[in-house]
Amino acid sequence: MNKLQEWPEPIVRVQSLSDSGTPLIPERYVKPPLERPSINSTASMDVNIPVIDLVGLYGDDHALRAAILDQIAIACREWGFFQVINHGVSPQLMDRAREAWRQFFHSPMEVKQAYANTPKTYEGYGSRLGVEKGAILDWSDYYFLHYLPSTLKDFLSNPLLICREVLDEYGKQLVKLCGRLMKVLSINLGLGEERLQNAFGGENIGACLRVNFYPKCPQPDLALGLSSHSDPGGITLLLPDNHVPGLQVRKDENWITVKPAPHAFIVNIGDQIQVLSNATYKSVEHRVIVNSSEERVSLAFFYNPKSDVPIEPLKELVAPDRPPLYPAMTFDEYRLFIRMRGPSGKSQVESLKSPR
Ligand code: OGA
Ligand code: NI
Repeated sequence: MNKLQEWPEPIVRVQSLSDSGTPLIPERYVKPPLERPSINSTASMDVNIPVIDLVGLYGDDHALRAAILDQIAIACREWGFFQVINHGVSPQLMDRAREAWRQFFHSPMEVKQAYANTPKTYEGYGSRLGVEKGAILDWSDYYFLHYLPSTLKDFLSNPLLICREVLDEYGKQLVKLCGRLMKVLSINLGLGEERLQNAFGGENIGACLRVNFYPKCPQPDLALGLSSHSDPGGITLLLPDNHVPGLQVRKDENWITVKPAPHAFIVNIGDQIQVLSNATYKSVEHRVIVNSSEERVSLAFFYNPKSDVPIEPLKELVAPDRPPLYPAMTFDEYRLFIRMRGPSGKSQVESLKSPR
């Protein structure tokens, strides 16, 4: 598809705009009034997504394990989002990974430009999602790379050659944590513990990382760091910035600002689990707000189905009174939508709903 070979217009690095010291953001970044961050934002002290302690998930205390499974089940149904602590990933590794990427974004522009991406694979240094000419853009740059399948992993061309061990180990530990969460979700859906993983293609799942860099924004009330979207994949593990909040999760008509717990991962359900679970679990819309005083770095790790297996509602979760809501589609086909149209709320998964 020719459309996916190149960006429709020259790429502007948001970081360069921010560094230029302009007091006014270009028109291209000004959101329409109803999408601006002040609309229904809640930063109230007492609302947060659930924080779940995973210590004991693999221990011998069956009552404790059952309680953790319950908390996850409730969080999946009520929020589609939760934080996990004592998750088994080394806190030092988390800090090192985040700081290595922060360093990349602070390296000279020529260094970063050497990794400039294209819409063909999205791999590398990017500043937009979607190829629609004239689209309103988000106030962020990013770096996107694949971990799995290993045939797609291209560490030699990634900018962190010096920290390859960190990057590699980070991927390994997160794949392991996602595998554990997949079992929990599977059991909670009333399935065998391997059922979801098998539906994803067993061992041959996909995994990729999107490192988001949100520069300071002189007019944060007019822009978004990342527009509202649901994640297209299976499970997302987000390592947020350790100092600067910004992620907002949709709860009914409100946007709740997430307050990250120290060394927690923020877990959320993606569209593929919504489809497999026949909407028992829903992928939830989220977005990122920016601010004028501090930059923000986050690492979003996406655990996805093998890209060529058809994903459709599991037969155990379909019944005469609960017909399948979605047709079968491979993840390769599915992710083309967000890659071409950019983040657009939940319009994609909703549009798939079989007419009834
Ligand atoms: C994403 C995402 C949130 C954040 O990359 O899909 O939702 O806090 N990121 O950067
Ligand atoms: Ni997301």
